[in-house]
Amino acid sequence: MSLSDAEAVAHAVDVLRRGGLVAIPTETVYGLGADAHDEQAVRRIFAVKGRPPDHPLIVHIASVSELATWAMDVPDTAHTLAARFWPGPLTLVLWRETHVHDVVTGGLDTIALRVPNHPLTLEVLRALGSGVAAPSANRFGRVSPTDAAHVREDLGDEVDFVLDGGPCSVGVESTILDLTSATPVLLRLGAITAEAIEGALGAPIERVAAGPSRAPGMLRAHYAPSARVTVCAATDLHRVSSEAADRGMRVGVLAIGARSDDSRVRTYDLGSDEHDAARSLYASLRAVDADRVQELYVVLPEGLGVEAAIADRLRRAAAAFSPLP
Ligand code: TXA
Ligand code: MG
Repeated sequence: MSLSDAEAVAHAVDVLRRGGLVAIPTETVYGLGADAHDEQAVRRIFAVKGRPPDHPLIVHIASVSELATWAMDVPDTAHTLAARFWPGPLTLVLWRETHVHDVVTGGLDTIALRVPNHPLTLEVLRALGSGVAAPSANRFGRVSPTDAAHVREDLGDEVDFVLDGGPCSVGVESTILDLTSATPVLLRLGAITAEAIEGALGAPIERVAAGPSRAPGMLRAHYAPSARVTVCAATDLHRVSSEAADRGMRVGVLAIGARSDDSRVRTYDLGSDEHDAARSLYASLRAVDADRVQELYVVLPEGLGVEAAIADRLRRAAAAFSPLP
């Protein structure tokens, strides 16, 4: 029996109230959520994900009016950006309110907050009347889930309820911006670009290449499929992938507009434009694993905006290598 949306939302709220974990759909990726006021429930997120306990979580809120519940000394820039980009894929790092549990922030004095743009999750947040702490609903270091089936594959029974909101419309994690220093600092690339943020603020922001160690999304090795990922130039793609096939490897190529004339090489075409590419990126990396590809050659998109976010995730996938057991 499938639940109606209203029933599913009510059930999600009920599970959260009782201290359970609910996978929530957002426009970026699915989150593994717990009531952010419930310390025990938030602890379970770390156990289920296998996430180091000092890595802070994003708290998802229903609207900008809840900022003051979680953060203090909220600067005007936060309101400017919220008015322009929320609900949407922008996370703001602010000074935390004193009541916020250490488990949520990894003991930091700051808290990451965002209003996600998904109708079902917004209804859950409004009905719950609390924030939902949620990392991406994948095991630590692996590929993020962009539909409900991915969450079930990764986490199985360890998540109490999966609120199925369909495939994620953006497909890569939110842009993270730290507003606790005089000049805002971009901590993670996402669909909301540095240029768009600067346009809204009318002032420049700082871009960090290698983020703080407390931001696992900024770890050099992350977002990893089981295949060994190698970045290569578009002009070398055919040669290197065929050479790997000659060595007897199971080979794939992944790029925007990927194709191969070599029938031994599997192709993972990310689509024809950057928005398609962001939406299909993680599902394609999962398909690479399902096909048990051993060597994956990727071409990084070179554009700004969400193309830069895709290139960022692929670079980190290439920095990691964790073969299937
Ligand atoms: O799009 C998204 O942001 C998704 C959806 C579910 O909202 N969430 C997500 O969560 O990507 P997660 O846990 O996979 O990544 C959150 C990132 C981590 O890199 C974490 O270190 C950083 O946010 N973060 C959280 N709180 C922070 C803080 N106080 N200061 C700096 N970075 C923080
Ligand atoms: Mg994640």
